[in-house]
Amino acid sequence: MNNPHELRDEILKLKAQRQALILAHYYEDAAIQDLADHVGDSLALAQWGARSQNQIVLLAGVTFMAESVKLLSPDKTVLAPDLNAGCSLVENSPYEKVLAWRLRNPQALMVTYVNSSAHVKAITDVCVTSSNAEKVLAAIPRDREILFGPDQNLGRYLMKKLNRPMQLWAGNCDVHLLFSARRLEQLRARHPEARVLAHPECDEGILRQSDVVGSTSRLLQEVRENRGVRKFIVATELGIFHQMRLARPDAELIQSPPEGSCACAECPYMKLNTLEKLRNSLRDLAPQVDVPPEVAQHARQSLDRMMRITDGESVRWPERFEDPKLPAEPPYRAERGLIPRFAPEV
Ligand code: 13P
Ligand code: SF4
Repeated sequence: MNNPHELRDEILKLKAQRQALILAHYYEDAAIQDLADHVGDSLALAQWGARSQNQIVLLAGVTFMAESVKLLSPDKTVLAPDLNAGCSLVENSPYEKVLAWRLRNPQALMVTYVNSSAHVKAITDVCVTSSNAEKVLAAIPRDREILFGPDQNLGRYLMKKLNRPMQLWAGNCDVHLLFSARRLEQLRARHPEARVLAHPECDEGILRQSDVVGSTSRLLQEVRENRGVRKFIVATELGIFHQMRLARPDAELIQSPPEGSCACAECPYMKLNTLEKLRNSLRDLAPQVDVPPEVAQHARQSLDRMMRITDGESVRWPERFEDPKLPAEPPYRAERGLIPRFAPEV
């Protein structure tokens, strides 16, 4: 049964039978967003997943987002409709290389974007998302050196905004790198009244031309609340246009153009999720995300610190890095290859 209406009914029926919570990221297809209990950014998804009473959580997003829910609520069954839904930032930051970087700088604190593997989180002091990174960094004493990874554009943006030096890992989001600063300049000249919104994973040339730089939820908030503006140029993944259109049917939304002839920037990992896979996942209670206990024990600490700082609590920082000597990281699933792999040296 593959008719979208029938699939939707089947998913909602299975969801009720299983008493499952369905969470979707803004980059998912509209049909998936429309049947989710909550649609949000990566921080909100982790908070909803961890705080809900439901024993079964299906996360339609990418695998590291489902892993975060599992790490924060190890007793829950966390379903990810397609385990191949990776992330180029996770691919760009293999555990062994990040560990070598950490070992060369044992006195520094390591701050890691949640777009990272559980192994990398396990050697991290605190995680951040694009919505709480400034608050988390502000909680770190000024005299502590910081290693920040894996997204260098987000890191560079934060360094400038907070006037705080950090060593950056040279990873990137292949989707946000597609936006062309040259073509944005031309577009702005044609639409001088438009407000430009960009995710901080975009290249500096895009961020420099943007009126608002922020997480997916911050960009959506801008469209929803800035009623005086009726035209927005948006430099982030296409899926978020669905919620933007629902919030502001009166506004014109233009995606910032990529270089070359490709039509639009979409995340191939997010788009691996389909209604059919959601149905199968709720029906079979598979695939489930799981993290080996010794990795989970350490990775949970960096996510816990992030959640506590986000909630306004104070935390303690270790003086030096102690290598937890984890078992090797299993081969990365997305190596099956949607986007060419590269592992930067820093
Ligand atoms: P947000 O946390 O802003 O939703 O970003 C997640 C992401 O993967 C952006 O590419
Ligand atoms: Fe990862 Fe980029 Fe996709 Fe976000 S858009 S999940 S950073 S590959």
